[in-house]
Amino acid sequence: MLILGIDTSCDDTSASVVENGTTIISNIISSQTAIHKKYGGIVPELASRRHIEMIWPVVDESLKSAGAIFQDLDGIAVCYGPGLIGSLLVGCSFAKAICYTNSIPLIAVNHLEGHVFASFLEEPRPDFPFIALIVSGGHTSLYRVDGFGKYKELGRTRDDAAGEAYDKVSKLLGLGYPGGPVIDALAKDGNPCAIDFPRAYLPESLDFSFSGLKTAVLNYVKQSAVATGGKSAGSPFLIQAESLPDIAASFQAAVVDVLLRKTEWALKKTRTERVVISGGVAANSELRQRMKDMGKERGAEIFVPSVALCTDNAAMIAAAGYHHLKARHVAGLDLNPKAYLSLDNSSVETHVR
Ligand code: KG4
Ligand code: ZN
Repeated sequence: MLILGIDTSCDDTSASVVENGTTIISNIISSQTAIHKKYGGIVPELASRRHIEMIWPVVDESLKSAGAIFQDLDGIAVCYGPGLIGSLLVGCSFAKAICYTNSIPLIAVNHLEGHVFASFLEEPRPDFPFIALIVSGGHTSLYRVDGFGKYKELGRTRDDAAGEAYDKVSKLLGLGYPGGPVIDALAKDGNPCAIDFPRAYLPESLDFSFSGLKTAVLNYVKQSAVATGGKSAGSPFLIQAESLPDIAASFQAAVVDVLLRKTEWALKKTRTERVVISGGVAANSELRQRMKDMGKERGAEIFVPSVALCTDNAAMIAAAGYHHLKARHVAGLDLNPKAYLSLDNSSVETHVR
């Protein structure tokens, strides 16, 4: 079964051809980072306008490099939410038009479900059940996944997503957007124990909270700026450049400690010993390493997709779309994108025709 996946949920335009939900034939991603960088974050209006410009060329390149034409496709899987509504609208409208004019089945895929199925695009593939930790710029959630369409949310962030915390801390340190990769790199030269930033463990809960940590970094930076009078180019605060690696490493340690501890709690609570991680923050070197170490210690299986499959991509949408098509979940042309959409069992039944 050959499926074209399309993802325009945020700031990347992506199209991918995937066979049988597991084999990537092509995976094209057009990044908008250069456009949004100067604003210190994503500007939704600019994102949707760029998607309009890029959707045709990206889909075209994806088909060409797969050596396929529309008539070869068994279905087109499009991400219809959650995400930026204007961005989602471009992918959904495009997919609907192509499906209508070429009589191809349209498949609606939840972005979070896509992240869960990214781990099926590489060997070794996980068996069910597993715990999925989805950590990105918009989401930080834990799910128990018992099979395709069998998702139980165990916890979610009550405020900022982990990636959002990275991006906001990066902005206040004057390190630019996106914050994750730059903080990840800086942290390698820093001492993770230098500053004791708070960890919000929220006892008895698998929910997350990162806004207190972000405020703690802000307060620390304000205080130390007053004390030292140093300067970091681009930051609204006076920070000594030499202290940046320690701040980055200590902040990152606080984020990763919480993500790990909660994942371990989820394993204990559900008596599962298998973890899949995905989302942009799953590209973080410290999280990847410590998650694998935790797996070794407890004898749990840890599935960490390669970095390009952790950040947003359309291959993961096609991978999830394959299961929908097999189950005959075909969406109607009245499909509308949704900015807010949770991942639960009902998300599978919504578009059965
Ligand atoms: O999944 P994604 O590409 O888009 C969303 O669906 O949000 O995730 C983007 C997020 C950004 O917040 C970015 O700073 C973060 O992932 N990120 C990282 C790393 N690479 C990207 N965070 C920590 N460490 C990284 N290496
Ligand atoms: Zn994502």
